[in-house]
Amino acid sequence: MPSLFDPIRLGAIAAPNRILMAPLTRGRATREHVPTAIMADYYAQRASAGLIISEATGISREGLGWPYAPGLWTDEQTEAWRPVTQAVHDTGGRIVAQLWHMGRIVHPDFLGGDRPVSSSATTAPGQAHTYAGKQPYAESRPLGIDEIPRLLDDYARATKNALAAGFDGVQLHAANGYLIDQFLRDGANKRSDRYGGSPENRIRLLVEVVERIASVAGADRTAVRFSPNGDTQGVIDSDPESVFVPAARALGQIGIAFLELREPGPDGTFGSTAQPKVSPAIRQAFDRPLVLNQDFSGATAQAALDSGLADAIAFGRPFLANPDLPERLRRAAPLNPDVAATWYSRGPEGYLDYPTLESEEEEAEAAE
Ligand SMILES: Cc1cc2nc3c(=O)[nH]c(=O)nc-3n(C[C@H](O)[C@H](O)[C@H](O)COP(=O)(O)O)c2cc1C
Repeated sequence: MPSLFDPIRLGAIAAPNRILMAPLTRGRATREHVPTAIMADYYAQRASAGLIISEATGISREGLGWPYAPGLWTDEQTEAWRPVTQAVHDTGGRIVAQLWHMGRIVHPDFLGGDRPVSSSATTAPGQAHTYAGKQPYAESRPLGIDEIPRLLDDYARATKNALAAGFDGVQLHAANGYLIDQFLRDGANKRSDRYGGSPENRIRLLVEVVERIASVAGADRTAVRFSPNGDTQGVIDSDPESVFVPAARALGQIGIAFLELREPGPDGTFGSTAQPKVSPAIRQAFDRPLVLNQDFSGATAQAALDSGLADAIAFGRPFLANPDLPERLRRAAPLNPDVAATWYSRGPEGYLDYPTLESEEEEAEAAE
């Protein structure tokens, strides 16, 4: 069985190890969703990941409702990503862009007062992050069938821009209760047309989007993320296997680079559910690289590889707080805890200042 430190081919991307950086929204772009210089430093610090999956990045104004999150729909945004990907490559790393349409999670404040789009007219529970603080979500309007070609164009433009910005590929964000997930799962999708009802219909938008992205980037530079289990931002499915197993099979037929699954961790903090994990069934149906995520330690990650359930593991909070995570795992060194108060705060604090083993050693020597 492979070790976490063995290389792996993820489609066209040669990853030198199986310790991936999970996508992490950090809110360090500008109000116009343009990447900033500190983002280049942050990602370059983490270039020893087998592969970095970028923070979720808006494909369109309609799809982005997170303060200071980056986008990939304007020339200015695209240009500003260039130094970021360049810094990662110069440090020996690889990075794909996570493409994000938030659907009903976008607050009307971001849309000039318009309602957000979704599969159906529904309202997410809880509150939206907006520039004016937290506000209740608004009811979405169902995306019209006649709007789907435009949505596919938005994904295609963002993919083209990602490649122009120097990304090694893209990951479609189809997890965590955002737009694609709002189509996939029957708790949010109440449509009666060809995009709703049966699992086959609920998968349709996903497949159309992935085919469109792959037509621009190549299937071998296209990845997808699902969160099949439990309730995420009010999106849930009555029978996750019935939709996610055929969805994974369809992605295998397209020949995507890898599929990443965010599943409930052992402590039940995310997507808490009594439903059995879908990953073992997806493993059977999907014959390409499978990446698992949520609450992994070095030991449990290696165990997942040993059991044959996964080919690689994506780490979120551990990578946020440990820029040199692969080296720390290799040496079984202690990990810095992450500080939630600075997850989304602006500026370098809690962003660029997490120490590496090397910087800790230098500091200890200087203190002697
Ligand atoms: C601060 C923060 C931001 C996140 N942003 C994203 C994101 O942009 N896209 C995404 O798919 N998941 C996002 N997630 C979820 C993580 O990718 C990951 O699934 C989660 O942290 C669990 O993995 P971990 O236990 O290794 O931290 C975020 C999580 C955190 C803590």
